[in-house]
Amino acid sequence: MQISTIAVIMAMAEEAEPFIREMGLAPVEAAIDGPLPLDVYAGKAGTADLVLIVGGKDPRHGVDCVATQPATLAAYLAIERFKPDLLINAGTAGGFRGRGAHIGDVYLGSGCIRFHDRRIPIPGMDAYGVGSYPVPEFKGLARALGLKRGIISTGNSLDMVPEDLERLRANGADVKEMEAAAIAWVADLYHVPLLALKSVTDLVDTETPTQEEFLANLALASEALQEKLTAAIAYCTA
Ligand code: ADE
Repeated sequence: MQISTIAVIMAMAEEAEPFIREMGLAPVEAAIDGPLPLDVYAGKAGTADLVLIVGGKDPRHGVDCVATQPATLAAYLAIERFKPDLLINAGTAGGFRGRGAHIGDVYLGSGCIRFHDRRIPIPGMDAYGVGSYPVPEFKGLARALGLKRGIISTGNSLDMVPEDLERLRANGADVKEMEAAAIAWVADLYHVPLLALKSVTDLVDTETPTQEEFLANLALASEALQEKLTAAIAYCTA
């Protein structure tokens, strides 16, 4: 497929910083009308236009807009405004040591992206809650870049209650994060192919508190993410 525009969605400024630097992306002021705090950057990847939408700072709480609501809005605006041929969601995730994850591994989302915290025990609504949005396999890309392929599961919490773990297992999750399924819902509605890349900051099936491990490894994982994201874009635009 000829790709003329790629839109990348990332939640946190620190996750995005190495990528912005590497690609020489420039901020686009006033790209989004109104009060939404999303930050937009633009640049080129070969001859293709490259747009990056970052969640921005929540004006009430002063922190990065992580999790599903900002991600849904970012995906909607990315598609409506920039009409990308390819949408990429890049970010960090918790991995499962028991499924072979290591800190700094970058996973390519495979199969279906699901939610693990939308429990609606009503016939029909239960499946809607889980979502199960299929994504393209990008097998050649995964092979060329040496990426692990794995199942991504999304929820609105960094930590995990026992019901989450049960559902993460039922989802076959390799990594747990907070945006991909929200973006996959929009990509599925609009029939835009979604490539999801998730870099592991923490291992959720160990004793170390997730938030400590996440903060300690955020810079390392964001660099690893940048390397694979830049290579994936080069592969897709070659
Ligand atoms: N992002 C990075 N680590 C995460 C975790 N353990 N859960 C959800 N999102 C994450």
